[in-house]
Amino acid sequence: MIRAARVDELERLRGIEFAAGEIFRSCGMDAIADDEPLTVTELALFQTRGGALVFADASDVPVAYLLLEYLDGNAHVEQLSVHPSHARRGLGSELLDAAEKWAHAEGLAWLTLTTFRDVAWNAPYYRRLGFEELDPDMLDNGLRGIVECEGLVGLSRWPRIAMRRRVRSILSHEESVSLC
Ligand SMILES: CC(C)(COP(=O)(O)OP(=O)(O)OC[C@H]1O[C@@H](n2cnc3c(N)ncnc32)[C@H](O)[C@@H]1OP(=O)(O)O)[C@@H](O)C(=O)NCCC(=O)NCCS
Repeated sequence: MIRAARVDELERLRGIEFAAGEIFRSCGMDAIADDEPLTVTELALFQTRGGALVFADASDVPVAYLLLEYLDGNAHVEQLSVHPSHARRGLGSELLDAAEKWAHAEGLAWLTLTTFRDVAWNAPYYRRLGFEELDPDMLDNGLRGIVECEGLVGLSRWPRIAMRRRVRSILSHEESVSLC
């Protein structure tokens, strides 16, 4: 079940990101695996606005999460992490659909994100889910700023790209999540 994260779950979200990041060692990107997740305070900025969605297991314990924010008049996916114990069961895709429902209810046209171009579970994964690559010269200011910051913190050692998916109108408002 997908729901908003609770404040007492933010440390758990950090644990999910640590565990999910381990997969980057398999392609020599140890620096990404070692990268410190967002702090509880940073996560709280998303959580208090309803922009931290979790997929909770049958015991109501989060096993995956997505961070969402307004950017350039669109809904920007800041982070998507699925604990390896629950990987490849469609949770990532379901969380993206939940983000899209929110964006639709808000009347926003696009879901955007930045990701590694050549990592199998990043850009190729998003492409399969309907995201398209954005021309770096055509980025709006917010997205360009994020790409520039990623370069400053060393993420662009491996090619990064920005992507977007059009928000589809087939998703019902009733199922949408709220972001204050
Ligand atoms: C990317 C991620 C969120 C996908 O979550 P998920 O719930 O496992 O994904 P889904 O079940 O929706 O989709 C599974 C698809 O993802 C891709 N994928 C997931 N893990 C993969 C891996 N280890 N190698 C290659 N492709 C992979 C495949 O296309 C897979 O489809 P398949 O199982 O039919 O081959 C998850 O792998 C993760 O948390 N990765 C580490 C953090 C990360 O890279 N986040 C995205 C940053 S932009």
